[in-house]
Amino acid sequence: QETAIIVVAAGSGTRLGYGMPKALVPLAGRCLLEHALDGIELAGCASQVIVVLPAGAPELEERAAGHRLKPICRTGGATRNDSVRAGLDALRPETERVLIHDAARALTPPEVFRQVVLALLSGARAVIPVLPVVDTIKQVATDPGEEQAHIIGTPARGTLRAVQTPQGFHAPALLAAHRQAAGWKSPAAEAVTDDAMLMEMLGERVDTVPGAAAALKITTRLDLVLAESMLPLHPG
Ligand code: C5P
Repeated sequence: QETAIIVVAAGSGTRLGYGMPKALVPLAGRCLLEHALDGIELAGCASQVIVVLPAGAPELEERAAGHRLKPICRTGGATRNDSVRAGLDALRPETERVLIHDAARALTPPEVFRQVVLALLSGARAVIPVLPVVDTIKQVATDPGEEQAHIIGTPARGTLRAVQTPQGFHAPALLAAHRQAAGWKSPAAEAVTDDAMLMEMLGERVDTVPGAAAALKITTRLDLVLAESMLPLHPG
């Protein structure tokens, strides 16, 4: 019963402004990628771990190779979707389930990984961790010549969820979805912001499990401060 986890860590991290790949940014003595791998190790549900790294990041490669999980390392691409595809290329053919995880969600609790795998074992073909949204979300449009967007709609908040990773899939179904999207050009290619989206486009049902506040995507300095304050709570 094969479950692979692909950790995408090939982002530049320009929004954090550290002048290094985001996955290498330190948090209490370990880099974000090491924290993400610690969570996966504690979850104990992966038979294969693949890490997708930026090109020319020898220090990050060293950190990945030095982790107890001994992940397979691959080089990522220009978009997150390209990086996921590079990870999928390294899957063993017998892989039944695959989880795609952002290294930037470095403090994701092991329980979230387990819930995603349990849902797959219970028959789900696609499952993602979600949280209710606390803000009212508006849809906007910007007319030609207009500087600021104007509001065109307000989806009912109760029907909205914020989406996290790891996102789990029946591996052959996700591979088929990615094959379908492989030839897409801009702007369709850039519009793919997660893997569940590709499954939805194929008409596949995507199920949900509860996400966790600790699984926030570390994007800004403020997120890093928050992550630092959470570390004592994180079993890793
Ligand atoms: O850019 P964004 O915040 O959506 O990135 C989410 C995750 O995808 C991060 O873990 C980042 O390292 C990864 N990523 C990647 N390759 C890219 C862009 C992002 O692996 N080209």
